[in-house]
Amino acid sequence: PKVTFINPDESRVELDVPVGTSLMRAATAHGIEGIVGDCGGGLTCATCHVLVIDDAFLAKSGEVSANEDQMLDFTAMGRMPNSRLSCQVVMSDDLDGIVVRIADPQL
Ligand code: FES
Repeated sequence: PKVTFINPDESRVELDVPVGTSLMRAATAHGIEGIVGDCGGGLTCATCHVLVIDDAFLAKSGEVSANEDQMLDFTAMGRMPNSRLSCQVVMSDDLDGIVVRIADPQL
């Protein structure tokens, strides 16, 4: 399944991500600099912040856990209604075609 990241400079990167891999892992593995992911997915850094563009995908992107909910309040950019931490968004067939904007700033 595919994900498109929109960088802060508006350039787009499309990646094919295996089911079960988080969007943070996919981004960092491909050198997408806007996704920092300092804590490696441990929900302690909030440097993997993305905005999910389409509400339909937002709804399918999985439940926001209490820990993610708390960490979203510590993002550098500030929280938006469509904010997610990309280490918590795990690729599935349902998410094929999802588009996320990378938060700016991330740190
Ligand atoms: Fe640290 Fe997502 S990688 S909170």
